[in-house]
Amino acid sequence: MATTPSSTDRGQWSGKLGFILAAAGSAIGLGNVWRFPTSTAQGGGGLFVFIYLFFVFSIGVPVILAELSLGRATKKNPVGAFAKLAPSSWWPAVGGLGVLTGFGILAFYAVIAGWTVGYLSQALTGAYGVPLSAEESGRIFTEMISSPGRAVFLTGAFMLLTIWVVRGGIAKGIERTTKILMPVLFALLILLALRAMTLPGGMEGVAFMFQPDFSELSAGVVLGALGQAFFSLSLGMGAMITYGSYFPDGENLPFSGVSVAIFDTLIAILAGLIIFPALFAAGGDIESSGPGLVFVVLPTVFGTLPAGGLLAIAFYALLAIAALTSTISLLEVVVSYFIDEKGWSRSKAAWTIGVACFVLAIPSALSNGAVPALANIFGTDWLTLNSIVWGNYSLSIGAFLTCIFVGWKWGMPKTFEVLQQGGHALPGKGALGMLIMVICPLAIVVTLAFIVITGNYL
Ligand code: TRP
Repeated sequence: MATTPSSTDRGQWSGKLGFILAAAGSAIGLGNVWRFPTSTAQGGGGLFVFIYLFFVFSIGVPVILAELSLGRATKKNPVGAFAKLAPSSWWPAVGGLGVLTGFGILAFYAVIAGWTVGYLSQALTGAYGVPLSAEESGRIFTEMISSPGRAVFLTGAFMLLTIWVVRGGIAKGIERTTKILMPVLFALLILLALRAMTLPGGMEGVAFMFQPDFSELSAGVVLGALGQAFFSLSLGMGAMITYGSYFPDGENLPFSGVSVAIFDTLIAILAGLIIFPALFAAGGDIESSGPGLVFVVLPTVFGTLPAGGLLAIAFYALLAIAALTSTISLLEVVVSYFIDEKGWSRSKAAWTIGVACFVLAIPSALSNGAVPALANIFGTDWLTLNSIVWGNYSLSIGAFLTCIFVGWKWGMPKTFEVLQQGGHALPGKGALGMLIMVICPLAIVVTLAFIVITGNYL
């Protein structure tokens, strides 16, 4: 029979700061530095940013607090958390969906994370300090992502790093790593943003980000902003249930949760303040640039900047760091499930799940040109398809069910009690209850309904 470790065996954060940095590390990732600028460019700039900010604070914060409460109250992984609060019901399946989703997201995320390492190593050899035409830059990107050997190798290397940290446990592995990496990330971002904004023409990029053009308003922009809010805050799959389960008794949970959301948003804005000023300064074409924005367009910009080679190293290093603190959290959710529910050792769980995930990531690694059959499935490539299925649909459904559970089944009084544990203040309880019980689920249903009605599934 599987043994259930006691809460002290499971490990916990050394304190509030350890939690905030680790959870912010989970939240801050490719979603902020790669996906946010891309969505902003496609969503018309300021308008997208405006709606995104609205969703982060009206929907993201309530859901983050709901997930953290579930973790703190149960000290369990997502499946165990629902099972403890609603035994003999189908609710643990919601946690199961979360664990599966963590696996699904990691299996495509690790591929893109691998590209960042590839770019970092090329930057270190001086590839990006030189003038590059858009064609040349595009060719470098295509070569990297379409070479089967490189793409699979880079994915594997990134998974190994992730396994190594998660194996180390909560305080010694995840917390220690993020405590070093997050300040480095922050410093690099500020440095690069200052450099970008002081370029001639750089302030036009700032204007693009902050001046909303309401004529661009469309259902697509709104949906994109909601999905981006969930993805960026790591919500909807129990990552915050898991991280909340290691939260020390007595510390201030609402403050910590809100801090994570603020941090995450600040970093996304900072990333935008690097990318848009740099693009405007270089006269790049903003709206037509897709996912290649940071991999294809930025290298051409670095080539035109003084000390561009160094800036490129700093930028790709920070992208890799941001990605690592996120892949850690994705693996941790699945690992915590096998530790809590199946009695596996941390080391066995980290290695087994990590290697299995690498194997499942191989089709995604090969779907960008290496294997033509994987490049066109339902009109898109396998990696993008996975990103949409797990990253958009599964997270939205997970967040919806979490709100229903917390608001209606477990109930707001218990949630408030857990949030206030340790005697901490919780202002705005009425509004928070309303948001978790009604507004958030409604917003998600309306969003999904729009997708079905318009038929824009991908
Ligand atoms: N939030 C991360 C990013 O912005 C990605 C991520 C990590 C994530 N863990 C998650 C997304 C859990 C959803 C759920 O890149």
